Amino acid sequence: MPAKRLQVLVVFGTRPEAIKLAPVIRELRRFPNRFRTRVCITSQHRHLLEPILRWFRIPVHHDLDVMRPSQELCGLSSLVLTRFHEVLAAQRPDVVLVQGDTTTAMVAALAAFYHRVPVGHVEAGLRTLDRYSPFPEEINRRLVSHLVTLHFAPTHWSRDNLLKEGILRRRIVVTGNTVIDAFFQTRGRVMRLPPEIPELRGLDFRARKLIVVTAHRRENFGQGLTDICRGIRRLACEREDIEIVFPVHPNPNVRAIVHPSLGGMDHVHLIEPLDYPRFVWLLSQAYLALSDSGGIQEEMPALKKPALVMRDNTERPEGVKAGVCKLVGTSSEKIFRTVTHLLDDPRAYAQFARRPNPFGDGKAAQRVVAALRAFPPSAS
Ligand code: UD1
Ligand code: UDP
Repeated sequence: MPAKRLQVLVVFGTRPEAIKLAPVIRELRRFPNRFRTRVCITSQHRHLLEPILRWFRIPVHHDLDVMRPSQELCGLSSLVLTRFHEVLAAQRPDVVLVQGDTTTAMVAALAAFYHRVPVGHVEAGLRTLDRYSPFPEEINRRLVSHLVTLHFAPTHWSRDNLLKEGILRRRIVVTGNTVIDAFFQTRGRVMRLPPEIPELRGLDFRARKLIVVTAHRRENFGQGLTDICRGIRRLACEREDIEIVFPVHPNPNVRAIVHPSLGGMDHVHLIEPLDYPRFVWLLSQAYLALSDSGGIQEEMPALKKPALVMRDNTERPEGVKAGVCKLVGTSSEKIFRTVTHLLDDPRAYAQFARRPNPFGDGKAAQRVVAALRAFPPSAS
């Protein structure tokens, strides 16, 4: 008799989860005799998610439609919990897959636990050990680790964090980060056919070096983001050799600070978030990135270019240790000085090109799915 197909329900809601789960969904769908793959989006993000679903051709079977403007964490969590409960009750999957540390991931893992459905956690074991930074992600991911059955740790460091918390070694697989898979797959396609970004038409990134900026972390709202903008403003005023491109996150808390601080400045281009292929193309043209994003700390090392991390700590210290990422915090002075140093000192800049990328080799999704193939549906 053929083996029963494992029914895998993949759930996600935000931009990074979609990008990082896309290679896993693709890999699962290569084995239709082994897996029945279903996709549930919470739509915690709506506008940011849709282009990713199209680019990676991800079919959606359930949409929880939870996004509301400026939504608070409690409201968001309760909507995801009750709506995902209904999907679980109707679908009764063998395994649920979640990714990362968002509210979607944490609450979906909790709902699955209540239904006694085993959960696999992609990108497990990241930690800062500071409960309020990043907020609420540090606590979200710790909770997820204690709700789930299978832990897909991107690196040995993240595996060790899980072991220290008492997670069984046999439940952990070190896979690399699936974002590198998504990045390589996308980069291969966009470099063959570079995309248009109408807002940037006419800019010459050989004449003026491109600095890509993103910022969205909750703990930076208010003073942190104001200081970040002050540093960017000073760079734009004092440097004649740069263009700054800042795709502004749709979160109203971000826009309320970034647009008044930087709008209308010469050589600062505030644009809408880019879809993933355009953003990958932009990073490929960049001299460096200034960002508080998690994913960008993993992608810039794949390009062998500096990622300056505008945070006080990181759950991805592998990049800092390898010398491919640098923590600059949110101080305008430090941001200004570090960027200036890398613009003016080619030898310091060249160091970044020599570092290996600690975050993966582009085969993480294969390892996740191989582990699922060996997974008995009854294990929990
Ligand atoms: C969320 C995640 C964060 C992740 C980030 C990636 C949580 C608590 N936070 O933060 O871990 O790093 O996504 O970007 O899960 N909005 C739109 N359209 C969109 C997306 C967002 O209008 O497509 C606006 C809405 O007003 C929404 C607000 O942004 O209420 C904030 O979105 P939310 O998902 O709560 O938090 P993020 O800051 O995006
Ligand atoms: N990204 C994108 N368009 C943008 C900005 C970022 O596609 O305009 C991608 C980026 O390449 C990375 C991911 O979004 O893969 C990171 O998402 P975000 O910074 O929102 O979340 P985090 O990684 O901090 O959780």
